[in-house]
Amino acid sequence: MIAVPGLVPAFVERLEIHPAPGHEFDRYELERALAPLRHEFPALIVAGPGPAPTGLRDVEVRTADWRDPEFDPDGVRELSLYAEPGRVAIVVVAEPGERPVEAVRIAQEVITRWQHLACRANGCWVNPWFEEALWAHRELHDMSKPLVVADYAHALDTWQWVLRLDPEANAALQLAALYHDVERLMSEADERVEHRADHYARYKNAHAEKGSRAAAPVLRRCGVDPLVVERTCDLIRRHERPGPDRDLCLLADADALSFFSLNAGGFVRYYGMEHARRKIAHALYRMTPRGRQRLDRVRQHPSVRDIVYAPVSHDPPPSQVPRPAPRPPRDRA
Ligand SMILES: [Fe+2]
Repeated sequence: MIAVPGLVPAFVERLEIHPAPGHEFDRYELERALAPLRHEFPALIVAGPGPAPTGLRDVEVRTADWRDPEFDPDGVRELSLYAEPGRVAIVVVAEPGERPVEAVRIAQEVITRWQHLACRANGCWVNPWFEEALWAHRELHDMSKPLVVADYAHALDTWQWVLRLDPEANAALQLAALYHDVERLMSEADERVEHRADHYARYKNAHAEKGSRAAAPVLRRCGVDPLVVERTCDLIRRHERPGPDRDLCLLADADALSFFSLNAGGFVRYYGMEHARRKIAHALYRMTPRGRQRLDRVRQHPSVRDIVYAPVSHDPPPSQVPRPAPRPPRDRA
């Protein structure tokens, strides 16, 4: 386990799945259902009902609430960046008669929503500059500003999505996930402006370019290997444009998955549906088929889900549609 206290106030260490009060799970069925979840979240303790560990604060999430389209995960303060400092166990409580496999499916959506408060990692932490870059990234964020807090959660979440999609993700890809939106800390810390852009794709590309330039000196100050800085900044610079680069595809998938699993509800509230439609089309267009498949296991805001699964939702946004190739001149013969 990585020493991350301070990066997030409430650190999720444990996920428990409990039957409804007065009910019991079939233990064999529960263990079978838990195995893939443990595999997918190796840094987390995933358990059924049992003796409660000491020192952890339980935060209960009922599967009945989770299924309710009106339930808003953004309202769970104990699982936010405004929570009291401490170590947390998320306890998912099933409905009466609910099978373990179904409760575990909900638990998977629950921990996905709050994975930015947990931590998975790989061998990149052996470089001392990697942790320096994590802290430098944290210090860029003025946590008194709600929009900045949302950006910080999204950065951590995109990082966690990258590691989920590729547990062996290299340091440059991880740092690009963390730093990819730092430009917003300069341009949108107090008010969002992207919905006023005349040309959305052009605006997003400029955002990426400026973010790349902003990240470079911070990473250099942390002593990050120059080749890693170069690659990180290159990924940030191109992160809004899909391309044949594997790391770039992973970053675009992670960024979009974080939008759908973490940010979409707040995005709809802030901007309204008109701009949300444009954002969703942009996010879907950047995703690979593999990334889009993951959306099936993400709890989505009801009005966002309607757009995602609309028959035309995977079409590129108008600003990204390439112009038709010019016709060859007519044969005058
Ligand atoms: Fe992003």
